Amino acid sequence: MNRAILGLQWGDEGKGKIVDLLAGDVVVRCQGGCNAGHTVIIGDEKFVLHVIPSGILRPNTTCVIGNGVVLDPFEAIKELTNLEKRGINYVGRLFISGATNLVMPYHKLLDGIQDASRGTTNIDTTKRGIGPCYQDKMVRTLAIDMSDLIDSREGFKRLRQKLAANREDKGYKLGFLSADKHIDWDELFAQLKEMSAFFTPMVTDVSLLLSEGHKLGKSILYEGAQGTLLDVDFGTRPFVTSSNTTIGGVLTGAGVGLNCIDEVIGVVKAYETRVGNGPFPTELTDSIGVLLRKNGDEFGATTGRPRRCGWLDLVLLKYACWINRVTKLAFTKIDVLDELDSIQVCTGYKLDGTFIAEVPVDITRLSDCTPVYATFLGWSGKTHGALKLGDMPAEALAYIDFVCRFVGVSPLLVSTGSERDAVVMF
Ligand code: IMP
Repeated sequence: MNRAILGLQWGDEGKGKIVDLLAGDVVVRCQGGCNAGHTVIIGDEKFVLHVIPSGILRPNTTCVIGNGVVLDPFEAIKELTNLEKRGINYVGRLFISGATNLVMPYHKLLDGIQDASRGTTNIDTTKRGIGPCYQDKMVRTLAIDMSDLIDSREGFKRLRQKLAANREDKGYKLGFLSADKHIDWDELFAQLKEMSAFFTPMVTDVSLLLSEGHKLGKSILYEGAQGTLLDVDFGTRPFVTSSNTTIGGVLTGAGVGLNCIDEVIGVVKAYETRVGNGPFPTELTDSIGVLLRKNGDEFGATTGRPRRCGWLDLVLLKYACWINRVTKLAFTKIDVLDELDSIQVCTGYKLDGTFIAEVPVDITRLSDCTPVYATFLGWSGKTHGALKLGDMPAEALAYIDFVCRFVGVSPLLVSTGSERDAVVMF
């Protein structure tokens, strides 16, 4: 079975645990970079993976980083070294596309400067250099990719030339003095040259590797990062990330075709969260919002920022299911709602005095939408730690059933706690 696992909200849906649970022979990251923070809890140990596929925690799983990812080589080495220290072997199990673009220190610098200069449209990015790296990719001549890093011919001439082009471009964007003050270009060249040998055995033709895997009948899982509402085309623009976080990003970010994916699993948290700026119609700024943040430990895995919390928005969820043609839903963090006396879900909006059941055509108008809610009674028992359907309170199952019927997608599983095995399968 070949699956894509995609977030259906603004990221942080708990995809890491679902990927870990369903990982088969191969796990592939296709887009995004160190802006992601995929958390997996195994026994007493917590792993937070930013750019290495979550499948690395399963010893027999091969991990792949596709061309659509923007990879910070400094952070990747750190992440792999840490994993190794914790007994996770990655040698011979991790492959990276030669076309994967590299996040450089100047991208991070630019990310901060660009975001600060945006005024009211300040996105509050993760400052991991994601946007500026994708900008270079679209410029085409400036991006440094894995193939540049490992091409040692003529004393790494190609890498040197690309860095020189970037020194000029970033010098222009940052101001020459500041670019040279913050970036030691000779030192950067030396560091990159040195890491070339580390990455060389990992670089491969990812599309070919996956195509051969498909032919051999391997089970391949495509691990989405961020969420549908952060997609650069379909998200709540301009408050989005710089990649396609939706199903199209899987295909172009790994070099596979439509027939390579049998099942599209959408991961949905039982309530809504968002980190960073942008519209959020069901946001709760009252004590319930505070309780969701506390009980759900809603603090960014990458930046530590407190996440904004609110009720589940079914208008947005239906939209996300449609965009990705989701075939099954994986619910997470249902147990965070265990303490509540009543639970609301948004089933439509009021916009300019009129009821609407869909996302406005002009998605920026989401900030003018007032949610219309359906109310559910809280559950009589706890979902926390439930392992089978019979352990789940009837009210929680009714809540899930309502959501599934509303969006027209059936459930695959519900995660009932942070532990690896706290899962109920449908
Ligand atoms: P960037 O991806 O760092 O450019 O950030 C753009 C927006 O996406 C900001 O609002 C970030 O908070 C948000 N964002 C990026 N990655 C994630 C993620 O993995 N989880 C949640 N929000 C994210």
